[in-house]
Amino acid sequence: MASSAPKDYSPFTPGQPVPVDFFVGRSAEVARLRDAVREAATGKLRTVFLTGERGIGKSSLASFVKFLAEQEEGALAAHVLLGGVSSLEEVVRTVFDRLLKDSLGKAWQERVKNFFGKHVREVGLFGVTVEFSASAEDLQRAVRDFVPALDELARRMSDQRKVILLVLDDINGLASSVAFADWLKSKVDEIATSGSGLPLCLILVGLEERRETLIASQPSLSRVFTLVEIRPWTAEETAEFFKSTFEKAGTSIDDPELMFLSHFTGGLPVLAHEIGDQVFRIDKDSHIDSDDAAAGLVAAADIVGRKYLEPAVLHAIRSPRYRTILEKLADQLPVSFTRKDLAGKLDSQEEQVLDNFLRRMKKFGVLRPEPEVGPGAYRFDNVLHRLYIRLASAKKKPVARHPPTEEERSPSTS
Ligand SMILES: Nc1ncnc2c1ncn2[C@@H]1O[C@H](COP(=O)(O)OP(=O)(O)OP(=O)(O)O)[C@@H](O)[C@H]1O
Ligand SMILES: [Mg+2]
Repeated sequence: MASSAPKDYSPFTPGQPVPVDFFVGRSAEVARLRDAVREAATGKLRTVFLTGERGIGKSSLASFVKFLAEQEEGALAAHVLLGGVSSLEEVVRTVFDRLLKDSLGKAWQERVKNFFGKHVREVGLFGVTVEFSASAEDLQRAVRDFVPALDELARRMSDQRKVILLVLDDINGLASSVAFADWLKSKVDEIATSGSGLPLCLILVGLEERRETLIASQPSLSRVFTLVEIRPWTAEETAEFFKSTFEKAGTSIDDPELMFLSHFTGGLPVLAHEIGDQVFRIDKDSHIDSDDAAAGLVAAADIVGRKYLEPAVLHAIRSPRYRTILEKLADQLPVSFTRKDLAGKLDSQEEQVLDNFLRRMKKFGVLRPEPEVGPGAYRFDNVLHRLYIRLASAKKKPVARHPPTEEERSPSTS
């Protein structure tokens, strides 16, 4: 029904891991992670590094797998956010705290509380939440005795929970810590050599460059972790995401608008949520038509620019002098390209400023040279920048009411 009041509700959740009911796609990755949990339940340590671009859905996938592991694999699970954590004591404290908090409301809550015993503190006005607290000395001991502690926890829970799943997410501050890398390696070795059959599945989550930093400080870690890389959604997955999320809020959308919106996400879930959210709010009659889609994109471009781009990058990208070059670059060339490819798309005026353009974009971290690929090779340092340029130029583009082109069908690889 038509209504002119702005909507105060949206099924899109930009910036938050997606609720389980709204989770879309990723079936291959879900299966791999679930297999890892199952194998761990047989007493084999499994360690996975889950990686992918910013906003691709690492935390959402981890949280979905955690839900499945608890429901269907009998896991005692904790999704531990380690952003801002840099010491080993703090890692261990945060892990124990999460194990405790994530068990609240579950049938095994009391068991976990009993295990942590005097270290459980009731907090909040009515003691509605709990916290793991320990002295500095106890924490130092816990860093050392982390494996025996998990062994004991697994043993005590074994009639109710078959496997422990620890997701260590946002390890950014720790990745460059040699102490963390060494600790991780020594714990993995300790589990392997103790022969206790600790049923543990450990999933580390972070950007690819963090994984590389971690391995640089402790090269044997590269053999320890199975790599699971999350890729952009395919055009089909993106369209499915929009269709099902709009439908859950009683809103319909047709194929041309679906293809149009999908094109601008480049398969990046974080962008899909920002775009969907704006389109949903602009729509007034629970049907997304081409005007809603176009106006939503324009609004989303603004928000994405402000929320996700560094001011210096935004400034460089908005430079009127380079705008047409950027648009050609973002629209007609892949994430990785060469100076020659780009020059081939430019008119003579644009070509004159090309070297200045490349220097400036390099300086602001928009483009990164790729000497390993060859001379004159570049790539977008962050795919979001490329997608933002497309989004910001969307004003001029009508919704395509034609069969999808090859590029529209696979926006993520274009
Ligand atoms: N499979 C999915 N289905 C639906 N929405 C998703 C999915 N994966 C991610 N999202 C959405 O995309 C956005 C980014 O997801 P998420 O925070 O999980 O990404 P991330 O890779 O962990 O990002 P960061 O690198 O910033 O930690 C969120 O708004 C989330 O709701
Ligand atoms: Mg995340």
